[in-house]
Amino acid sequence: MLERKYLAEKYAQEIQAILEKYPSDRRQSAVMPLLYLAQRDKMYVSREDILEIGEILGITSTEVASLIGFYTLYYDQPKGVYRIQVCVDLPCALRGAEKFLTELCDRLGIQPGETTPDGLIAIEPVMCLAACDKAPMFQVQSGAGLTYHENQTVENALSLIEQLRRDAAGRRVAGHERGRDANG
Ligand code: FES
Repeated sequence: MLERKYLAEKYAQEIQAILEKYPSDRRQSAVMPLLYLAQRDKMYVSREDILEIGEILGITSTEVASLIGFYTLYYDQPKGVYRIQVCVDLPCALRGAEKFLTELCDRLGIQPGETTPDGLIAIEPVMCLAACDKAPMFQVQSGAGLTYHENQTVENALSLIEQLRRDAAGRRVAGHERGRDANG
């Protein structure tokens, strides 16, 4: 048994709402939305989250962890605040996706699979994202959800990344101001 249940403390209502969508004999199916909830703020699922989700659903932590390993949308390690997942599967590769990925990473000074030094942007190659005739294409995963970007150029992608950095800076400032107001 976990001593402290962070998910239950933080997301009691959301967890209840998720569980209510499933009949009691199908509760285990709630594992995916619970993983998504656990990952939403910090962009990865911690060891404690895995244990707690297992306890909530009555399944083993190994079963929960195996889903994280299987799906590209879940992570068990901290990485960028924004994850840019570039499809390099064959149809996209034929439309220049690998060159796009390499050039984009070069411009950011990182290798595919790495995160920018500011900790904000992770770039990684993934398999088909179901937009095979619109390469280069990628999805951006963040705590706010997923956005898709098709028929991209490196310049377009860099503009988007600058916008994401501005958004993140804006949220940091808003967070500081809230903290200052709360402290009087
Ligand atoms: S092969 Fe890239 S989206 Fe399908």
